[in-house]
Amino acid sequence: MNAPFKHSDAPFGHEHGPMITGTFAPVLEEVVLTDLPVTGKIPSDLNGVYLRNGPNPRFKPKGAYHPFDGDGMLHAAQFKNGQLTYRNKWVRTEGWNANNAKGEETHWGIMSTLKGREDMPMADVANTDVIGHAGKAVATWYLAGKAYLIDPITLETTEAADYGNRAPGHGVSAHPKVDEVTGEMMFFDYFDHAPYMAYGVVDKEGKLVHHVPIELPGNRLPHDMGISENYSILHDLPVYHDEDALAAGRHKIRFNGSMPARFGVIPRFGQSDEIKWFEFSPCFLYHVINCWEEGDEVVMVACRFMPVKNEDGTIDEHRTAKTIAHLGMDARLWRYRMNMKTGEGTEECLNAEHNCEFPSYNTSLTGRKSRYAYLVDHNPNTLHWIGIRKFDTDTGESLGNWTDGPKDCWYSEPWFAPADNPQSEDHGYVITFMRDEKLGKQELQVFDALNISHGPIARVEMPHAIPVGFHACWMKPNQIENWPDNSIG
Ligand SMILES: [Fe+2]
Repeated sequence: MNAPFKHSDAPFGHEHGPMITGTFAPVLEEVVLTDLPVTGKIPSDLNGVYLRNGPNPRFKPKGAYHPFDGDGMLHAAQFKNGQLTYRNKWVRTEGWNANNAKGEETHWGIMSTLKGREDMPMADVANTDVIGHAGKAVATWYLAGKAYLIDPITLETTEAADYGNRAPGHGVSAHPKVDEVTGEMMFFDYFDHAPYMAYGVVDKEGKLVHHVPIELPGNRLPHDMGISENYSILHDLPVYHDEDALAAGRHKIRFNGSMPARFGVIPRFGQSDEIKWFEFSPCFLYHVINCWEEGDEVVMVACRFMPVKNEDGTIDEHRTAKTIAHLGMDARLWRYRMNMKTGEGTEECLNAEHNCEFPSYNTSLTGRKSRYAYLVDHNPNTLHWIGIRKFDTDTGESLGNWTDGPKDCWYSEPWFAPADNPQSEDHGYVITFMRDEKLGKQELQVFDALNISHGPIARVEMPHAIPVGFHACWMKPNQIENWPDNSIG
């Protein structure tokens, strides 16, 4: 029986808005936990590390607070021979170190007016995604800030990744993609002046080997990208900063329902003028599941954000922009096909029923045809996910789901972890943190990926709260530079 954990509901008070209290409230200790009580059994062929990033402000914010402002904190569940070690640690960003030296928050957030506050810049907090690359975990931020390299075992921050002396001020978007066959990492950067985007490739040693400007028609807020074996797929979506607000030092998001969504397909090492753009129905798109090539076509399966509609069926641009700004998600599984020969693009909804987001899959197949994906079921409350669901992305069919209670149990982004000797694409496990708000308990849960509906095969009781957060990843032993026992994986 789980014991309730102790967790301050509002360590910085209630005056900074709702997204820093309750289940968002930060934890203020870094801990290492072992020998935690387990219901069920942690599989012995589950070896590697589940990492989850999220906002966790260390000091009282200076003004209104948004989850993109909070210092990045990683929560790690390391599985080894049936044993589990949990760790949590803040990413030691430049901002975290500056705050630490002063004993207070020294940055403004994205909801603050920045004009006249140039001496206290916006926080660049590495709190959005974490992926594995070149033996390290890489923590990134949604506005394309600095990426930080982290030891996936100890969670020590080793360095800010400059990937080989790029022009100062250039960042890395939240969701770089790693080709696990070549070890290359593809990423984009975006900024509020022409050309508005850049695209790059980092090799398997962690060195930047390709970086080109990508011209967009104006400032944009792209969130994700995709890769196939030979191409990268970049996003030009009708979501952007209001220019007047930007000039006044503020962030205000606009959505234009009459502009197409465009996806640009560029050869992995292509030059700027080699990109081919395809136009689709207007939408925002947070997350790509996977991309691959089929003959002349590049296929992208993604979670398409559904624009908010008026009663007459037209798009409500204002409410759509507001929903995006508050991280609301109303998304459906969607497949895009882009024919590189004819220039034609087609799109189709794969499953109209389920509002699902924060996808994961077997990353051995990044850029190659994959079939299974594991997502969270959404509810209207920001970042509160009510269960996990497996999909067949060929057919759009839901292959099973699980929730411990859709009204008060919140899940982290689940990630697929292959078994040590996988016999099929979905032979392995799905890992997630689950917080039961009603009972005040925190668990780490392990599912058999072949049978999500069975429920967790292991529930690990945690005395330490995990605030709701953003993205996660799975790193296999052979992807971890200092995995403690190299005989595994
Ligand atoms: Fe994201």
